[in-house]
Amino acid sequence: MPARLPDGIHCAADYSRLAAGAIDAPTLAYIDGGSGEDRTLAANRAAFGRLGLVPRLLPDLRGAQTRLSLLGQELAHPILLAPVAYQALAHPRAEIETARGAAAAEACMACSTLSSASLEEVAAHAGPQRWFQLYFQPQRAATLDLVRRAEAAGYTALVVTLDAAIQAPSLRALRAGFRMPAGLRAANLADYPPTPPKSPAPLPGASRIFQAATRDATTWADLDWLAAQTSLPLLVKGVLHPEDAGLALDHGAAGLVVSNHGGRTIDGAPASLSVLPSIRQAVGPGCPLLLDGGVRSGAGAFKAIALGADAVMVGRLQVHALAVAGALGVAHMIRLLREELELCMAATGCRTLADIHDGLIHRFHDY
Ligand code: FNR
Repeated sequence: MPARLPDGIHCAADYSRLAAGAIDAPTLAYIDGGSGEDRTLAANRAAFGRLGLVPRLLPDLRGAQTRLSLLGQELAHPILLAPVAYQALAHPRAEIETARGAAAAEACMACSTLSSASLEEVAAHAGPQRWFQLYFQPQRAATLDLVRRAEAAGYTALVVTLDAAIQAPSLRALRAGFRMPAGLRAANLADYPPTPPKSPAPLPGASRIFQAATRDATTWADLDWLAAQTSLPLLVKGVLHPEDAGLALDHGAAGLVVSNHGGRTIDGAPASLSVLPSIRQAVGPGCPLLLDGGVRSGAGAFKAIALGADAVMVGRLQVHALAVAGALGVAHMIRLLREELELCMAATGCRTLADIHDGLIHRFHDY
């Protein structure tokens, strides 16, 4: 890690401010953009902006701490790193730096199926809390091999992302002229031979969009199959509808991530934070529930927890910190988020995460 923190970082979100100096403009457009005209991307952020928190006077904070238990795993704090593909776009040592930063900040990291470094290399640098994000592969043998490799490398949960099958292009990235660099590779998939799709070709005449959405389409039966293959807990990522929350749990999920993929699936999807209360209501109080999308501060984490999340994940902010200052930047960014969260807890009289509740949230638009 470099010995020095970059100048000009006073809060976690400052890493996003400095990212333009560390990442070329087309690549940053790809990382930062959402799908379409970025309406969902903007909604994710705006949802946090509409909420404040109500301070309490003279709280007794002796023994205050941020620990939580999630899926039977003990975490020092509720700030996790979301799976983000191809981190070589931001740093030459890619997820290896991210893993070192997360470990230094006692943060659980989710390594993407599409990581630039292999999941084994990432595990070698990660802390004990590490999850693997799984994309179903066209061939079950490849999916199963990824699961076995993740188990062998000591990952403690699988984050099964189900919302990426349908992705509208990012107009911001297209307009900026972004092209995936020729040498960019998904290291985990390099040894799997290209295979024919498992489903028969759709009927001739089906549109380009429907063909793409039908070919190799994942089904709920695939989730049942996956749950039967592994004893690792499954977290389904990409839930926005209460009925899908129930379906995911019925088909083997142990927990859920409320997420719209950072506004990168279909433009117009609701902000994650806006649907969070309805998902919590649907799954009940005991279900492990995470949220991502628009978290840029510890106050954001506080608000998400108040509205029903157990913990939050950060996506872009981790890439920005990685690009600006490598592992040190990632660790520093997480520490700042944690301190910002602790400040909110102290101001509202919350000694533990369990003390954070909706009654401490102020809705600005009500006045
Ligand atoms: C992502 N995300 C993502 N999700 C996933 O499950 N697997 C992946 O490989 C990726 N890759 C990826 C790349 C880039 C560049 C971005 C910005 C996002 C989505 C990610 O896990 C998370 O849902 C969002 O990034 C959360 O929103 P914020 O924190 O970026 O606002």
